[in-house]
Amino acid sequence: MISKSWRELQSMHRACTIVVETLEVLAQAAVAGTTTKDLDTLSRERIVKAGAKPAFLGYRGYPATLCISLNNEVVHGIPSGKRKLKDGDIVSLDLGCIVDGFYGDAARTVGVGTIGTDAQRLLKATEESLHAGIAQCVATKRVGDIGAAVQGVAEGYGYSVVREFVGHGIGTSLHEDPQVPNYGPSLWSRGQPNPRLRAGMVLAIEPMVTAGRPASRVLRDGWTVVTADGSRAAHFEHTVAVTDSGPEVLTLP
Ligand code: MF3
Ligand code: CO
Repeated sequence: MISKSWRELQSMHRACTIVVETLEVLAQAAVAGTTTKDLDTLSRERIVKAGAKPAFLGYRGYPATLCISLNNEVVHGIPSGKRKLKDGDIVSLDLGCIVDGFYGDAARTVGVGTIGTDAQRLLKATEESLHAGIAQCVATKRVGDIGAAVQGVAEGYGYSVVREFVGHGIGTSLHEDPQVPNYGPSLWSRGQPNPRLRAGMVLAIEPMVTAGRPASRVLRDGWTVVTADGSRAAHFEHTVAVTDSGPEVLTLP
C-alpha cells in the first residue's frame, strides 16, 4: 500500500476525470440496438483523444478497453459486435485509463430504455452501498470497515455481495495492495490483514451486488463473471483518496 503525494494525486485525478467523463458519454449511448462493441470503440476513441491510455486493454490478456456486463453478468464482460442492448437491460460499464503512468478506475450500472422497479431498486442499493463504503475512507478506520459498511447496506435491501472479486488499491498499477473486500472481516480468511487507512492511500471501491445469492462463476471465455443463480447484478466503482480531511472521490465529473 503506497501513499501518494499531492502531485501524484493530481495525475490520478486527471485519469479519473477522463474515466468519468467517458462513462457519462457511454451511459448516454447505451440505447437499445447499440452493440457492446460500439460502446467499447467509443470508449477507446474518447480516452485516446483525451491523451490517455486504456488501462484494461492487454491487462492479463484482456481484449478490450471497456468491461460491459449485462443483467446476470457481474463484471468483466467482453464487448462483442454480436451483442445488442435491449430495452430493460441493466448494463455495467467499467472503465480505466492511464495518465502519466497513473491509473483511474470507475464503473456504473445503467438501465437501457425503461427498466422495472426491481432493477431500479438493485441499482439504487448498489450505489448506496458504494457511498457507505466511501464514507469509511477516513484515516484511523480500517479496510474492513469499508467492506462491513458496503455489505450492511446491500444485505439490508435483501441482496448479496459477491465474495470472489474485490476492490483494490490503485496508483501506478491498476491493482495494488490492499484488497478491498465488499464484506466485513468476519467473512475474511483467517490471518488476512486488516490494515489501517492512512492519508495518501488511494482505493478503488467496487461493490458487486446480486439480487439473489452471492455465488458467482466465470464463463468459458475466461473473463465474464455471472451470478451462479442467474439473478441480476449491479456494479458501481469509484477511485477514492484517503485525505486528512476525509474521503476524496477522484472519479467525479
Ligand atoms: N474495474 C475492474 C478491476 O479493477 C476492471 C479490471 S478488468 C481487466 O478489476 F480487464 F482489466 F482485468
Ligand atoms: Co477496479
